[in-house]
Amino acid sequence: MGLTVLVAESASTCVLHRKRVRTQKAEALRNIYEREGLIFVETTAETSGWTTFDIYTRDSVSAQKLCAQFGGRVLSWTQRDWTRKQREAEKPMRIGSRFVVIQTEAQAKLKACRGRTPLIIPHAMAFGTGSHATTWMCLRAISELPAGARFLDVGTGSGILAIAASILGWQQVTAIDNDPASIKTVCTNATANGVALKARLGTLANLKSYQPADLVVANILLNPLMQHAHQLFSVLAPGGCLILSGVKTTNQHELIESYKNLKLIDLHKKDGWICAVLQR
Ligand SMILES: C[S@@+](CC[C@H](N)C(=O)[O-])C[C@H]1O[C@@H](n2cnc3c(N)ncnc32)[C@H](O)[C@@H]1O
Repeated sequence: MGLTVLVAESASTCVLHRKRVRTQKAEALRNIYEREGLIFVETTAETSGWTTFDIYTRDSVSAQKLCAQFGGRVLSWTQRDWTRKQREAEKPMRIGSRFVVIQTEAQAKLKACRGRTPLIIPHAMAFGTGSHATTWMCLRAISELPAGARFLDVGTGSGILAIAASILGWQQVTAIDNDPASIKTVCTNATANGVALKARLGTLANLKSYQPADLVVANILLNPLMQHAHQLFSVLAPGGCLILSGVKTTNQHELIESYKNLKLIDLHKKDGWICAVLQR
């Protein structure tokens, strides 16, 4: 099977290298990619029996190296104009005492960023630029907890929370979303921020295949969070914390009732939204 490598035309975007294999051969390839330290997205189409691996690199030299190693070709990938316009309009946004969210690497030189760790999150087709109160509260809550071994971000959107967790020192960071566009964006953003994480297409309903994590974050919506409380509980290591958001203040009691087997240790509120920090 041939490979595809897409080269981005701007420095803030990345290169995509794609390989499609029969699902039974996916594990061997996954092991090679992991050994090489590559950030990849793995998508398995359960009915067709094929698994696709997308690898994002920062420049065309790295893309060429992948081609030399695995075969394939390099293509050009241009971002949409509207995302560029939006990016220019955005100013750096400070979150908690540690981070500042910016659209481009160049913005890190701005005065507003001084003394802060930049998170480069360009506008793309995925939720999570930090401007929404729920993202803002989750990011701050993550920053306030000590970093540990395993971090799981369910409903990762742009990957902003998972990227921040990697920067904060979490050792194994996994980001899951049920939207393929999100997973591609996460890989692009992880590369732009120089962090390694695993991005997987997956759903709240199917967390059984993941190892229990010491911190799980799910900024989704009330109904899926209530419906899948058991799955989130089961993927939380004993003593681990769960950060939940995406829920309006008016629904706070319903949410907390669904997680009454966990201890509520903090409850943040902003712009009519809540962010609950619970512990197993
Ligand atoms: C509100 S956004 C949060 C994005 C980011 N984590 C943040 O805090 O800004 C919710 C994300 O969850 C994803 N999502 C919604 N339902 C899901 C489900 N059942 N399983 C996995 N992801 C889901 C959406 O695609 C979206 O990217």
